[in-house]
Amino acid sequence: MELQSAIRGRRSIRKFRPDPIPRNVLEELLETARWAPSWGNTQPWEITLITGEPLEAFRKANVAGMAAKEPLRTDVPMPEAWPETLKARYMGVGKAVVTSLGLVREDREGRFRHQLNMGAVFGAPCLAVVTVPRDILVEYAMLDAGLFLQTLALAAHDRGLGTCIMASAVHYADLLRRHGQIPEDRRIVIGVALGYPEAEAPVNRFERQRAAVADCVKWVE
Ligand SMILES: Cc1cc2nc3c(=O)[nH]c(=O)nc-3n(C[C@H](O)[C@H](O)[C@H](O)COP(=O)(O)O)c2cc1C
Repeated sequence: MELQSAIRGRRSIRKFRPDPIPRNVLEELLETARWAPSWGNTQPWEITLITGEPLEAFRKANVAGMAAKEPLRTDVPMPEAWPETLKARYMGVGKAVVTSLGLVREDREGRFRHQLNMGAVFGAPCLAVVTVPRDILVEYAMLDAGLFLQTLALAAHDRGLGTCIMASAVHYADLLRRHGQIPEDRRIVIGVALGYPEAEAPVNRFERQRAAVADCVKWVE
C-alpha cells in the first residue's frame, strides 16, 4: 500500500469480524513493526499476543471489573484532566462513536453497554499488549512504545487488518498479568485490539476530525 493512503486510511476499528488472524499473518506484521525507531536502538517494547481461551477469560474479567466500577489498577497513571482544547477533541470523538452506534447522550444504559463492549476489546480475536521495562528508561521507553504502536497499526492496515489502540484494555493490569502471563518487571503500557474489520459498520466509518496544521504548527523564521 502506498504510504499516503496507509497513513490517511488507517483508523481506529471498533467492530471486528470474529475470524481468527492466521499465525503467519501476525508473524509478518511483527516482522515489519520491529523496524520502528527507538532511543539508541534499545527497542524496549515487548508484545504479548493474547488469543483464544486466555483472551476470552481476560474479556470476561475485564468486563466484570468495569461493570462493578472497580477503581482502575493501571501501571501507567491515566490522565485525570485535560486542557480545554484537548478535552473538546476527546469529547468530540466520544460523541462521534456513540452517535455512530445509534445512541443518544441521554441513553446512559446504551453508553454503559458500549463501555463494557470496549472492555471486551470490541470482540477482536487478538489483543496485543505492549510493555516496556518497569521503572527504568521510563519516559523514553514510552515514546519508543508509541512509535512501535503507529508502525504496528500501519503495517496491520496494509495487510487488511484493523486496530484500535486501547487504554481501556489496560485498566486492570493484574488481569493482563494473569491471563497474558506478563511478568511483574514489565510495565503494561497499552493494548491493541487486532482483527479483520466489519467494513460496513457505521462505527468504523464515521468522519474523523483533526486540528488544522495552523492550529498545531508554529513557524519561527
Ligand atoms: C493511547 C491511546 C489510547 C486509546 N484508547 C482508546 C480506548 O480505550 N477506546 C477507544 O475506543 N479508542 C481508544 N483510542 C483510539 C483514539 O480514540 C483514536 O486514535 C483517535 O480518536 C483518533 O482516531 P483514529 O485512530 O480513528 O484516527 C486510543 C488511542 C490512543 C493513541
